[in-house]
Amino acid sequence: PSQTVRLMDRERNPFLEVALSATQEASDYIREQSKLTRQIDFKGTTDLVTQADRGSEEIILRQIEAEYPEHSILAEESDGKRLKSQFTWIIDPLDGTTNFVHGYPFYAVSIALFKDESPLIGVVSDVFHEQIYSAVLGEGAYCDGEKISVTGTSKLQKALLATGFPYIHDEIWQRNMEYFREFTDRCQGVRRAGAAALDLCHVACGWLDGFWEHGLQPWDSAAGMLIVEEAGGKITRNDGSLFSIFHDNIVASNGILHKEMLAVINS
Ligand code: IPD
Ligand code: CA
Ligand code: CA
Repeated sequence: PSQTVRLMDRERNPFLEVALSATQEASDYIREQSKLTRQIDFKGTTDLVTQADRGSEEIILRQIEAEYPEHSILAEESDGKRLKSQFTWIIDPLDGTTNFVHGYPFYAVSIALFKDESPLIGVVSDVFHEQIYSAVLGEGAYCDGEKISVTGTSKLQKALLATGFPYIHDEIWQRNMEYFREFTDRCQGVRRAGAAALDLCHVACGWLDGFWEHGLQPWDSAAGMLIVEEAGGKITRNDGSLFSIFHDNIVASNGILHKEMLAVINS
């Protein structure tokens, strides 16, 4: 309840309202599910899916479709919906499923609204800690109603970074192991906590100085990318070019460290 009250302080936008409300209900549902025995199915050897993923997605879709039946939807656990709309909701109903299954308190709900190729709204909830990160294009980034911003760290040597690894242990995965070693050698530490949407929010709120990953899906980065950018950070692809959620490699930073991070990845 206190979380809801704090969110009320912010000036509302109807799209943001729906995203916040769906995130809130889905997060409450996941918290309830976390008290029950997990029913686990396997999408791959280590790629898990639970009732919490599916139920959370149903809640989110129900709310969004009730308000905006004409909008397209891209969601992880269902076929989605491609309509003739400029607007697309991009949904990860539970980011960090492996953490959720093990009870490791680092999992999220992520909802973004895109107009054509550009993010308009991004909402990510840290389900366990009951915190909600949000951003509206051009209006800054917030955590529970408080404005957040990236760090001012100016040297990689002084930075704390994060990354993640895809489920498929292919050549990309192998390459990321190399980057992991290289960055660990050059900065103050690299964290691998297992929920990309939250990793991005931690760059946005200044708990991390940068994040990179390969093999992400659109719903992993859609909301987080706007939250980082609105917090003053920078997002590109590995080669420094413009990032889109349909590119599977991402480098996010406080902006100042970006060049140094790209140099390590491209060395
Ligand atoms: C995963 C998490 C993880 C990242 C994986 C994603 P999921 O999402 O974001 O941090 O390393 O690439 O697939 O499967 O838990 O929604
Ligand atoms: Ca995910
Ligand atoms: Ca997921």
